[in-house]
Amino acid sequence: MAKLGGTAEGNFRPSKEGFFISGGVFNLLEKLKELEEETRRSIKNAKSLEDLKEVKVRALGKKGSLTAFLRSLGSVSPEERPVIGKQANILREELEQAFKLREQHLRDMQKEGQWEKERIDVTLPGRPVQLGQKHPLTMILEEIKEIFIGLGFQVAHGPDIESDYYNFEALNIPAEHPARDMQDSYYITEQYLLRTHTSPVQIRTMEQLAPKLPVRIIAPGKVFRRDDDATHSPMFHQVEGLAVDTDISFSDLKGTLLLFVREMFGSEQKIRLRPSFFPFTEPSAEVDISCIMCDGKGCRVCSDTGWLEILGAGMVHPRVLEGSGYNPREVTGFAFGMGVERIAMLKYGIGDLRLFFSNDLRFLKQFG
Ligand code: FA5
Ligand code: MG
Repeated sequence: MAKLGGTAEGNFRPSKEGFFISGGVFNLLEKLKELEEETRRSIKNAKSLEDLKEVKVRALGKKGSLTAFLRSLGSVSPEERPVIGKQANILREELEQAFKLREQHLRDMQKEGQWEKERIDVTLPGRPVQLGQKHPLTMILEEIKEIFIGLGFQVAHGPDIESDYYNFEALNIPAEHPARDMQDSYYITEQYLLRTHTSPVQIRTMEQLAPKLPVRIIAPGKVFRRDDDATHSPMFHQVEGLAVDTDISFSDLKGTLLLFVREMFGSEQKIRLRPSFFPFTEPSAEVDISCIMCDGKGCRVCSDTGWLEILGAGMVHPRVLEGSGYNPREVTGFAFGMGVERIAMLKYGIGDLRLFFSNDLRFLKQFG
């Protein structure tokens, strides 16, 4: 009877197959079983790929428990060794498989987690697109245009960069005239500048239309001056007006402006014409309206006068008519140029015109 070598704690007893397997073998198989159960438990409990890797190293790595187990078989008898070795190798393969499955599972979970994080709920209502609104100056400009179009005026335009000729010369403002100083200008070259008023559009229009009658246009647009304070901006807007016909009188000018002011500010509104001077009109006037802020009683905005200047006006100077192709002995005309910002300030009760250009949404949103 062959004596099968066992471990120290082994008992020898016969197997069913008729040869002895040491109790040590049972112990070893038992140990293998324990090792398997523990490893499977750890695999199941591994919550991340990193955890799983650690478990794998602990079981199958160079210093892993199963590797150590296989090494220890050196002390098992040569007859027993294949039995246990075979079991151990089967277990190794099974565990490898279990690791692989768990790894796949964890990868899937990770991906799912990622998807969950990146999920887009297409049923959520979209964020509303923020709609802008018209700038208060645009609104005022549109209102001004509407009133004059209603009176039979057409809208004309001229360039922002204007020649010295149209901006000054043709308007009877020769080179050394002091009126040029009042519109201290941005020159681009000796000959070209950013227009200082919309009056050059008077000339451009008449040159185009002469000798046709009547001429009835307004010309809105940007103008530029070296001004900068609460009521003067370096860029601002004017609306020019021009009417030329055979029988235009100063009372037509006054009536037109009164009608405009009452449409704009209310039917009770008064206007005041003060004698003034412009080289391109004769006679000339500056037009005030009774102060909206204080009802004409006098306040900070109107400098305690009760009146506010909104425009310059007058009868078109004969020299201007003549230079633009009309015969001043046959036709007359009136012209005016109003400050759009000033009108907007009065209409909306705004004390500082720089607010129009500061792009502050808190200000702009109030005009929606
Ligand atoms: C002129 O510019 C003349 N071209 C107006 C004119 C046209 C007279 C046709 C006769 C015939 P004045 O420089 O006064 O005139 O400007 C006209 C208006 O523009 C002023 O009444 C004022 O309302 C506005 N204004 C003038 N300067 C500024 C400024 N820096 N910022 C804002 N508004 C201004
Ligand atoms: Mg003025």
